[in-house]
Amino acid sequence: LRRLILAALIVACARPVDDRYAALRASLAADNGYARLRLARYRAWQTLPEMTLQADAYALGREAFFKLPLQKSPGKDGFGLQHLVDGHFTCATCHTHNGVEGAPNVDLDLGAAIIANFDHPSDEGRAIAMAWGKGRVDVSSVTGKEPARIPDLRPVRYQKFLQYSGAVKKLDRMSLELRIETLIITATQETARPSHALARALAIYVESLADSLPTPPPQPAVFTRECASCHEGDELIDVDEVGTDPTLARSIDRGTGKYRAPTLRGVRLRAPLMHDGSIASLGDLLYPGRAGGHRFGLDLSDADRAVLLGYLQKL
Ligand code: HEC
Ligand code: HEC
Repeated sequence: LRRLILAALIVACARPVDDRYAALRASLAADNGYARLRLARYRAWQTLPEMTLQADAYALGREAFFKLPLQKSPGKDGFGLQHLVDGHFTCATCHTHNGVEGAPNVDLDLGAAIIANFDHPSDEGRAIAMAWGKGRVDVSSVTGKEPARIPDLRPVRYQKFLQYSGAVKKLDRMSLELRIETLIITATQETARPSHALARALAIYVESLADSLPTPPPQPAVFTRECASCHEGDELIDVDEVGTDPTLARSIDRGTGKYRAPTLRGVRLRAPLMHDGSIASLGDLLYPGRAGGHRFGLDLSDADRAVLLGYLQKL
């Protein structure tokens, strides 16, 4: 009877029959204790935590970052991005610059490349893609009208949210792994998915990029007073309070009504600043006469401003 119950359980669990389970069953030559244990336990075993070898995962993640093709060959369903970018359209196409891994490719003008390769772009389509400019893309929204600066991936380990609008909470590495897995699935128009091990390897690689950032100097009082509440806090900031361009925050695709206050680790490396690149440099950020949003730290004394700027330039 026990065996019957077991068999019934196996049948019940075998829905949907996954390929690995079927392959396991096919590989077992005899109905013995060895086979029964494996068939009975295999599905439950799939929920065990996976062993990882960090060094291997890093190497695999790095290879995928540079080589995993993100689009099927050019066709009516895609932008044909592979074809536009020298046959290689990978994470590194956007997220590496002059050999610096994780740095945003500020020279990539994907909008212009797309327009140049369409036979008959409409005036509207042309205007939309040309408005992206270098280092900014929108391959996420339906309209293409929400370009964002390609982010620097080096500080990802320290971000509490992913994406400028904070659409993804980064609770642990699994959040990053899932962000990358689902990105690859949508980038390939739901025609393929990475293995979980590969998605995890990419996440391990991306988080490792922070190793290249310098150790921050001690925080000056002016930063603690004027900036830390947002930049070291756990909350997204309402777009009206930030005052930068609200398009992305209010996006139907990615919006939350808010922006994340990003970690400032590595900020000296990533001008132009803000999600849309609207502030050219750290000097401009604190210049009282400037236009635009993020109006924090604009009424500092000259001494405080110098201290704050000096600090930001060492991050
Ligand atoms: C077409 C250029 C492009 C490609 C290719 C690309 N990304 Fe990105 N990536 C972006 C942009 C733009 C954003 C910001 C989107 C937003 O915030 O709305 C982004 C955001 C991210 C983020 C979140 C970063 C943050 O600061 O929140 C991660 C992680 C990431 N990409 C990893 C990858 C990985 C891994 C690959 C390859 C599988 C990849 N990206 C391929 C352009 C690209
Ligand atoms: C009320 C919350 C808040 C305060 C206070 C604040 N920030 Fe920000 N900061 C933000 C948000 C939100 C963003 C992202 C805005 C965007 O991308 O449009 C941001 C962006 C930035 C950026 C751009 C980072 C990048 O990667 O592009 C810098 C630099 C920065 N802040 C520095 C400061 C400094 C220095 C202070 C203190 C004088 C400060 N912030 C005070 C919320 C705040």
